[in-house]
Amino acid sequence: MRIMGIGGGAREHAIAWKLGLSDHKPEIFWIAENRNPGIHKICRDNQGELRTGRTTDAKTIVRSARGWGIDMVVVGPEEPGFHGIPDALEKEGIHCIGATQELSVIERSKADLRRLQWENNLPGKLLFRTFKNAREASDYIRKNIESQPWLQNIVIKPARQSGGKGVKLIEDRQVYLHDEKERFKEAYFDSLQASMAAYSDIEDKILVEEKAWGPEYSLQCFTDGKTVLGTPLVQDNKSAHEFDSGPETGGMGSISGPDMTLPFITREEYDKSLKIVEGIVESIQKKTGKSYHGMVGGQMMLTENEGPTVIEMYSRLGDPEALNMLAMLKTDIIDIFQAIVERQLSKLKLEFTSEDAVVVKVVAPNGYPEKRDKAKGHPVQVLETNIKRNGCYLFWGNADLHEDGQVITGGSRLLALMGTDHTLPPASARIEKTMSSVQLADGWGLYHRSDIGSQQLLAKRQDVAERVRPLYTYREEHGILGSRMGWVPRVGRIDPSHLMLQETHGPEKA
Ligand SMILES: Nc1ncnc2c1ncn2[C@@H]1O[C@H](COP(=O)(O)OP(=O)(O)O)[C@@H](O)[C@H]1O
Ligand SMILES: [Mg+2]
Repeated sequence: MRIMGIGGGAREHAIAWKLGLSDHKPEIFWIAENRNPGIHKICRDNQGELRTGRTTDAKTIVRSARGWGIDMVVVGPEEPGFHGIPDALEKEGIHCIGATQELSVIERSKADLRRLQWENNLPGKLLFRTFKNAREASDYIRKNIESQPWLQNIVIKPARQSGGKGVKLIEDRQVYLHDEKERFKEAYFDSLQASMAAYSDIEDKILVEEKAWGPEYSLQCFTDGKTVLGTPLVQDNKSAHEFDSGPETGGMGSISGPDMTLPFITREEYDKSLKIVEGIVESIQKKTGKSYHGMVGGQMMLTENEGPTVIEMYSRLGDPEALNMLAMLKTDIIDIFQAIVERQLSKLKLEFTSEDAVVVKVVAPNGYPEKRDKAKGHPVQVLETNIKRNGCYLFWGNADLHEDGQVITGGSRLLALMGTDHTLPPASARIEKTMSSVQLADGWGLYHRSDIGSQQLLAKRQDVAERVRPLYTYREEHGILGSRMGWVPRVGRIDPSHLMLQETHGPEKA
């Protein structure tokens, strides 16, 4: 069997690793924008090759797949799905594990996702409103902040998935009311507008939504459209520096295990989260009339108003969350992919190790995420035998293997180290011990988060969860889960839900 992967990050390296371990002994081919050293080696060891090319260009991908005589393609990142790569492959009769263009809208458009949730009255949603541009959003908020109390506590996001760039939590309602703060806000809106200008595939560019608070976690799933199989929960850590400080990144590291849930999420919350993901898959299939086959995930938050709540959806595996899940996966990955292709996922027994906790730590060059040009172009030195001796695994990310064998940084997340143990803290310590095995030969600095998997950070997550859980369970017991009554002076209590239905059916725009 010949299989081809798409994408050149640590997530794709981990997928290639599992393919290489499969009893089906597939020949492994790959297309990525960078020559990922790990994927390159796995392809070479498995009678295949890694070719560089544009992963969003259907012509390139289809030509390579046909040329190589590929039986099945697995798509790693989200952009190929947004660009209809799975659609193009399937048109050629090549099986593809990956959400097609129409279905991947659950990730591509955060606005369409919210509409879908409200139209189908699914649990785990947030109040929202969409706007064509930043100015419209800003005017609306200023005009309505008194009559719609929920606008006092919001986040403003690019409505399109833009790879972790641009979510802004506006903590301070005064931002909209005070002139001297106006300039700060206008500057933010302008930058948001500029970042969304590049995307022509979405109409509503700005999403304003209720600001939630609680512990975050990801639930990644496999689906053939009929069955959605959940995998162990993973928590990614988005902030660049220790204890959630610093700028937002694509993800600096993640934890999972030793079982299906996390130490601060209950089994019941897992089940509810899975139901939410199932509901979204079902709703988008109903809406489009298409069958979803591939990976899907909920980036979730436990919140006071709703319990498990969707922050955004993934139409693929998470990066780095995929590394945790795949490390725990015992079932042959090709068996899963075949069951998806044959729409037989309900008959598959998906198994994960329950003995190991998994910690992943991303290593990034100084400069990432804000000055990527400075983080780019540095020669990398890795002592792989030391990493192995410490019982850790290395997954290459945004790295490029040059002809002379030298690996060069690409400016984004360079690689991920993974450690396992019976619980999280020793797995984290194992990675810390081998961290000096990764360096840049020109002396430029690297950084990572030492706190991921530590007892201290776990305690912080647990504390947040324990503050939110009694509030949402109280609401649940009293039949008011999901209701948001706001107080407007001289008007009284108002329920903003009807405004959401207006938003989804879209008659008037203020
Ligand atoms: N409605 C919200 N309430 C609170 N925090 C949010 C909200 N939306 C996003 N965030 C925070 O911002 C981060 C990034 O937002 P997300 O929608 O996942 O966008 P991205 O595409 O950048 O990952 C989330 O992980 C979460 O911490
Ligand atoms: Mg996200």
